[in-house]
Amino acid sequence: MPATPSDPLTTSDHTEAATPTGSRPGAVSGRPRVVLGVAGGIAAYKACELLRRLTESGHDVTVVPTASALEFVGAPTWAALSGKPVHTDVWSDVHQVPHVRIGQTADLVVVAPATADLLAKAAHGLADDLLTNTLLTARCPVVLAPAMHTEMWEHAATRANVATLRSRGVLVVEPAEGRLTGADTGKGRLPDPAELYEVCAEVLSRGTALAPADLAGRHVVVSAGGTREPLDPVRYLGNRSSGRQGYALARAAVARGAEVTLIAANVDLPDPAGVTVVRVETTAQLRDEVVRAAAAADAVVMAAAPADFRPTGVSDAKIKKAADGSAPTIELEQNPDILHEISTHRARPGSVVVGFAAETGDATGSVLDLARAKLARKGCDLLVVNDVSGGAVFGSPDNEAVVLGADGAVRDVPHGTKSALAHVIWDEVVARLEPGLAP
Ligand code: CTP
Repeated sequence: MPATPSDPLTTSDHTEAATPTGSRPGAVSGRPRVVLGVAGGIAAYKACELLRRLTESGHDVTVVPTASALEFVGAPTWAALSGKPVHTDVWSDVHQVPHVRIGQTADLVVVAPATADLLAKAAHGLADDLLTNTLLTARCPVVLAPAMHTEMWEHAATRANVATLRSRGVLVVEPAEGRLTGADTGKGRLPDPAELYEVCAEVLSRGTALAPADLAGRHVVVSAGGTREPLDPVRYLGNRSSGRQGYALARAAVARGAEVTLIAANVDLPDPAGVTVVRVETTAQLRDEVVRAAAAADAVVMAAAPADFRPTGVSDAKIKKAADGSAPTIELEQNPDILHEISTHRARPGSVVVGFAAETGDATGSVLDLARAKLARKGCDLLVVNDVSGGAVFGSPDNEAVVLGADGAVRDVPHGTKSALAHVIWDEVVARLEPGLAP
């Protein structure tokens, strides 16, 4: 997210949220204080971009690299980009007790990349340099973004360390899949720095106390975007859903500690950090992937706009204009209703299913009347209702809605960001999750 004057992280409202009364000593600069830890991995160069995004959006950033990190990117780079001196050990500026102060006064500590070694030290409470000391003294949210080769990420020792850290409320972001340092590919890449920035922004927007990640240990599935139903090799029937609300839901869930599967239908947005993205095109494909993922999910949110109809047949060849000028007739058949299916055949009893509805109201009833009827018809637990009588706003960064519960709950969500609506939806989901269901 590029810095903008309206960036919520730079507003006084946010600063108040970021520095609650009685929080850590020294957290009074007026700007959220972020410690950017950098461990010794090749992805250290990507942390420069994260640093830039943090500083440009108004954060006060202290970079704490490890000695190994400086083998990849030197101290002058970090100092120049952060505007502060950079130390790796606890023996510089000892009179300011930096090994305690930096962690104590932070509103957020993010380590990117976090190596297998750094994860091991953090999990076991080792403190042999400034970064590991900072992790021990931090009482604010801690985000670790691991990057390493797949074998190291999958090693039993690393799995155990990640589990330990997550059980303590540390947000360990799942690495991305793709090209690694050598010619090999697999899971272990540092997510895109712009998306890591979004994780930091989400976490900071939730306040700076070390709040329990209320979706930790939960697997959630979100669908996003609009499906396309092919007519011939070059044409399709589709809709204008941008996928932004679904992506905001996925980002918000990551920041609350969930394992997130995002099933994206024709969305032109970057993969959110820490999310498994499955790409689909048609409603039938979306249905198969949602049903597959729902089997292990605690919650499913259907934010996608699936096409309700598809052409009965797809022409193998491009449909040509007829010589007599007549237009072709396209016959349609109905697609499966995914929300209805996953609501009425719950693979996981006790899971929470959320639907969306864009309504205008008509002669038979108001927006809320129609929405209540839809909630009952679909069988889901929550329905997020957008009143689109003034015209649907596709691709807008904002949203406003009413969240209806099958239990009769009605929650008005005033005009605000899609991220804010996403957090309200997760609040309502969390309130309905059965405690015993966590894996
Ligand atoms: N939905 C779905 N499968 C479909 C169509 C819609 O799962 N084939 C989901 C959407 O993702 C959304 C919810 O159902 O969460 C409501 O979508 P909407 O288009 O309003 O529902 P419809 O049943 O198509 O209702 P309407 O006849 O009013 O269009």
